[in-house]
Amino acid sequence: MEYRWITEGPEQTQSLGRKLADFLHPGAVAALTGELGSGKTCLIQGICQGLGVTDPVTSPAFVIINEYQGRLPVYHFDLYRIKNIEELYQLGCEEYLYGFGVCLIEWAERVEGLLPKDSIRVSLRWKAESKREIVLKGRVPLRGANGDKIHRECMSGRSELPP
Ligand SMILES: Nc1ncnc2c1ncn2[C@@H]1O[C@H](COP(=O)(O)OP(=O)(O)O)[C@@H](O)[C@H]1O
Ligand SMILES: [Mg+2]
Repeated sequence: MEYRWITEGPEQTQSLGRKLADFLHPGAVAALTGELGSGKTCLIQGICQGLGVTDPVTSPAFVIINEYQGRLPVYHFDLYRIKNIEELYQLGCEEYLYGFGVCLIEWAERVEGLLPKDSIRVSLRWKAESKREIVLKGRVPLRGANGDKIHRECMSGRSELPP
């Protein structure tokens, strides 16, 4: 399954994230790819809100994995500064990737070989100053008919997603 959205402004990207959160199950891994400024952190902020995280969600320097508590444990990876996969193993990433929480991974392309096969793929692209294209691939998050439901919901008035 592949879903595609165009968002106009960070609020819409966060709003999409909040909706996607409803479809993330325990153990889900979302692998986000896209250049700097494409909106990965922004989308993750929305997903975290949707998962009930109240801590601020940022990508601080020098921290590779942030842990938050929502209705599920959430592990936010930012691999921008990672040197090699070994570094990630040393942080015990496998426990996170194959655990009960939800993993949200920025710069996932840097650890391609490490991603579980059923990871949800989310690619973000800069289209214009405040426009981003967000493409989601994978069966897992949108379980069956729910996938079409979220697609309809998020696509309806896609330039003005509901809050
Ligand atoms: N439609 C949009 N979706 C997400 N971010 C947007 C959008 N339009 C503008 N922006 C801006 O782009 C930047 C995205 O930053 P961020 O989410 O940190 O990107 P990344 O984590 O991919 O480097 C933010 O400054 C945000 O305000
Ligand atoms: Mg980021």
